[in-house]
Amino acid sequence: ATDLIGRHFLKELDFTAEEFRGLIDLAAELKAAKKAGAEVQRLRGKNIALIFEKTSTRTRCAFEVAAADQGASATYLDPSGSQMGHKESVKDTARVLGRMFDAIEYRGDSQAKVEELAAFAGVPVFNGLTDDWHPTQMLADVLTMTEHTEKPLDQVAFAYLGDARFNMGNSYLVTGALLGMDVRIVAPKAYWPNGEVVASARELAETSGATITLTEEVAEGVHGADFVATDVWVSMGEPKEVWGERIADLSPYAVTMDVLRATGNPAVKFLHCLPAFHDLGTAVGRDIHERHGLTELEVSDEVFESAHSVVFDEAENRMHTIKAVLVATLAGAAS
Ligand code: CP
Ligand code: NVA
Repeated sequence: ATDLIGRHFLKELDFTAEEFRGLIDLAAELKAAKKAGAEVQRLRGKNIALIFEKTSTRTRCAFEVAAADQGASATYLDPSGSQMGHKESVKDTARVLGRMFDAIEYRGDSQAKVEELAAFAGVPVFNGLTDDWHPTQMLADVLTMTEHTEKPLDQVAFAYLGDARFNMGNSYLVTGALLGMDVRIVAPKAYWPNGEVVASARELAETSGATITLTEEVAEGVHGADFVATDVWVSMGEPKEVWGERIADLSPYAVTMDVLRATGNPAVKFLHCLPAFHDLGTAVGRDIHERHGLTELEVSDEVFESAHSVVFDEAENRMHTIKAVLVATLAGAAS
């Protein structure tokens, strides 16, 4: 049973492996129920605030659809739509929203801010992405992995290539460590997660039996991987001036068909939290193309569009897993 009533969802380190796996199981049950047209609404009458200080497609829509499916209502506060941080403190905002809502989602830059909201809201607070962690994304990625391998999670190997100092790299390392996986961070040393994150992962690995590898070598890093993942090279909140340096440093770590072949695993699957620069047809992409002359960045279009790619299952699973967080924290164990 997954009873996390009243709990926050701020970072993976706050959960036991059993609790994390419980959320994955609950998400799978909720997904199956929805597909069968047999979803039971357990959040009727609940109200959820969604604070977005950074933009979003998946996370926002996942919370809104999950809430609606379960009979709850969601109020979206866009990056300019609340007083928080401008003329009202995080602490005061937390106490106001906590009087009106049953739960609060927050996306923004600082982990300290979401922790402060949680300390003062009096209701569950969920991290919809900070610079440090993207924990709801990890639930979707792990659910997607379970759907695309026969292996138990503690026998799964996955490699993350690219900038691993930020939310996705940190979250992958710690989540893999928590669940006893064979997790490899493949990046130039300057792009590895910081010492504190690595130490947390190594500590978790001692009990979970995880294997933690940090390497600069692509071929060695991906060999035997069941999943290969990457993320954008420049994250939200970073200045566009860093693109040149990032491209120079990370181009050898782009996920191409050669990288997938180097796994030696014909069934290898590709993950990406999205949005992805697999072609540069978007406004931001066209600007990068004009400045740097490239047509694809962290993943080739060939990989992205190949049968290896499970990125849209992963995107769909954002909704089912976020629904599991809402149900587990606001309604409790499934009946
Ligand atoms: N993967 C993810 O968090 O996407 P959004 O930024 O669209 O929410
Ligand atoms: N690292 C990316 C993830 C986007 C979902 C960012 O923070 O922009």
